[in-house]
Amino acid sequence: MKICLCVGTRPNFIKAAPLIRAFKKYNIDFRLVHTGQHYDTNMSDAFFMGLSLPEPDVTLGFLKDVFRAAQIKHMTKAVSSYFRIYRPDIAMVLGDVNSTLACAMSARIMEIKIAHVEAGERCGDSNMIEERNRKYIDSVSDYLFCASENSLDNLIDDGMAKRAHLVGNIMIDQLKYIEPLITKDEQEEPYAVLTLHRAENVDSLEKLRKIWDIVVKVSEKIKVIFPCHPRTRKQFEKMTIDGFPFTRIIFCNPLPYLSFTKLVNNAKFVMTDSGGLQMEAAYLNIPCITLRDSTEWVETVSVGTNVVTGIDECKIMFNVNSILNGDYVWIQSMESMIKLNQLHDGNAAERIVEILKKEM
Ligand code: UD1
Repeated sequence: MKICLCVGTRPNFIKAAPLIRAFKKYNIDFRLVHTGQHYDTNMSDAFFMGLSLPEPDVTLGFLKDVFRAAQIKHMTKAVSSYFRIYRPDIAMVLGDVNSTLACAMSARIMEIKIAHVEAGERCGDSNMIEERNRKYIDSVSDYLFCASENSLDNLIDDGMAKRAHLVGNIMIDQLKYIEPLITKDEQEEPYAVLTLHRAENVDSLEKLRKIWDIVVKVSEKIKVIFPCHPRTRKQFEKMTIDGFPFTRIIFCNPLPYLSFTKLVNNAKFVMTDSGGLQMEAAYLNIPCITLRDSTEWVETVSVGTNVVTGIDECKIMFNVNSILNGDYVWIQSMESMIKLNQLHDGNAAERIVEILKKEM
């Protein structure tokens, strides 16, 4: 069985690490393709190094700062060409980013079987690029590997049950792997962690300013550490911010995986519009305030570590105050917590490989 593991963005690199360990354990012949969607040292090289990923077998040249359709077309053409040379039995694609979409389209065109890891995630908001990507990728995939019962249910509802397998969460495989290294340390000053990069939050300067004003209010209560995504940084460069720099909002570059996870594990709470971080915070039992109107990780809400506030200042400040006053009960449903933990045994990647070995 020959597998081509396709990656392109920061969250893909994290999910690739446990899969590569499983491929090696089961002696699977694999190649690693990097679409180059994330190309900065901080967004790509630091992750390859920190996660001990092998050098990609091929890294495609990415078209920077052109519109999405052009990027997807470029990636699809380049990945298809690679598939023509190295014809894998399976193209394995991860998550919901544009690279995932392009690689799935390439495999479909080249009539190569597709395995989608993190299939069935839905937030119900088709305005989100990632939601549209998910639906397309699931519809063309031959093997759909689900992180949770909820994502399995979504696939059943969409008539894709026959191709679906519940395997558990690959991101948690990686988190479990590094768990001994992410100690809880005494902090001189408590802090919150902020991440922000979704197109729907940062592409409009008006919306970004509104979020910024809320962050300034939060920083009056607690120091905020803000590893800033390149997309967001570019937007901030276009804005004039009165009173900048703020002493209680600490801007920094995106952090490597291990440093970032340590930072989160020692935070009072996180505020984010990321998908993966909601789940990682749930696993670490760190309160998460999600700056989006919907989430695909609904189990984090039922467990009670996550509240979805959008960018509603009242809701955000209410939750910030509750966390800081210690009067918010985060774990709401023990039943959901137990279910969540059963799938968090760190063996999702191995289950994926075992299923593929049996089926091929
Ligand atoms: C992408 C994913 C998003 C994921 C996020 C993780 C899509 C649709 N979105 O968003 O789901 O949560 O990655 O980080 O695929 N840029 C740099 N350096 C880089 C990468 C990007 O400067 O290393 C710039 C790009 O040139 C572009 C902007 O950041 O101007 C946005 O990058 P893009 O890859 O389109 O999407 P992300 O916002 O990173």
